[in-house]
Amino acid sequence: MSESEGAVIAELSGMTGAQAHASGPHGAPNARDAVRALRPSQIREVANAGFGVPDVLPFWFGESDRVTPPFIRDAASRALADGATFYTHNLGIAPLREALGRYVSGLHGATPAENIAVTSAGVNALMLAAQLVVGAGDRVVAVTPLWPNLVEIPKILGATVETVSLSYGPRGWTLDIEQLLAALTPSTRMLMINSPNNPTGWTMTREEQRIVLDHCRRHGIWIVADEVYERLYYGAGATVAPSFLDLAARDERVIAVNSFSKAWLMTGWRLGWIVAPAALMDDLGKLVEYNTSCAPSFVQQAGIVAVEEGEPFTQSLVADLRASRDHLVNALQGIEGVDVRAPDGAMYLFFSLPGASKSLELCKALVREAGVGLAPGSAFGAEGEGFVRWCYACDPARLDKGVERLRRFLAARV
Ligand SMILES: Cc1ncc(COP(=O)(O)O)c(C=O)c1O
Repeated sequence: MSESEGAVIAELSGMTGAQAHASGPHGAPNARDAVRALRPSQIREVANAGFGVPDVLPFWFGESDRVTPPFIRDAASRALADGATFYTHNLGIAPLREALGRYVSGLHGATPAENIAVTSAGVNALMLAAQLVVGAGDRVVAVTPLWPNLVEIPKILGATVETVSLSYGPRGWTLDIEQLLAALTPSTRMLMINSPNNPTGWTMTREEQRIVLDHCRRHGIWIVADEVYERLYYGAGATVAPSFLDLAARDERVIAVNSFSKAWLMTGWRLGWIVAPAALMDDLGKLVEYNTSCAPSFVQQAGIVAVEEGEPFTQSLVADLRASRDHLVNALQGIEGVDVRAPDGAMYLFFSLPGASKSLELCKALVREAGVGLAPGSAFGAEGEGFVRWCYACDPARLDKGVERLRRFLAARV
């Protein structure tokens, strides 16, 4: 409701303007406008369409079909048995911050624990990063198609978000760097960029990062780099994707967001971290206090074991994901009308197929009629229309079953 609508309703009803705003035209309580304007999840909408359909193959969410490895689950059990059930420091327990400091230093150069804050997973890290630097009326730029949370979070804080779209061509998804720089005007407060990207798998090159960082330095623009898929990277001979942390000093306006969800299969644990300038940490601690107070104590203990002992696991997970990616690309390329390429990172194929110009409708029909659960491209912004997202982090036999169902579904439609 606008200010003026509130005033009119107040006059007609005898309420004060504030009461009319709070209760809406029929007395129903409303959330504030910025919250009501948030986009609901289209992936949920597709999943709801599949309720009651037996034997749906769920490729729509961004998680593996495997449970967290036993050495991490055992560490959490031990921590619980030892009584790790209390609040911790807002920024995380010291041994985990130190372990993360060593881990991040090994990947991206010297990063002391004073630059690290433990969070309740990646999505909370994104919210905290946004709360640190943006407020009402600030201008934020995001590169899309993109997992919706990055675009919606700044809007909760009253910021406006402008999007710059990747383009799709013979080389897959690519960034027009000039277009991005043009959008990063001096009045921009923050760039939100996710690489490797969900949903496209697009991965920024080191050179692109250098150009964007130089530009943001010149204009004092904050970079919030969502690097939760950095380990799920298939570049030749590399064990981690290019990162802004490789280029920026730790006291620059760069906040890197990361998570235990993807590299250690810990989605349900809700554990992540932020790398940020040490000068921000006191304020970040206050925000953690008022959001969650701390990540769960026994989960943090398990996190230490994950980072310290998990490297062989992560590397074998990435090898499996690469094989699944190639397997699925190969199988999908055998279906007429499907245009798919193998991206460099993350765990999704974002591809076009007949009927995808209305991707939400197509995905609902696919789940209802064929029992195949895919995410519609439009869930990731208007730029994603014409595509669907398939998470390939699962057993290849299940991928084959899904491909066969998709093939039959498309054949029946021509
Ligand atoms: C791009 C991106 N960032 C952040 C997250 C957050 O994940 P979590 O909150 O589980 O760490 C996700 C989850 O799918 C994601 O795709």
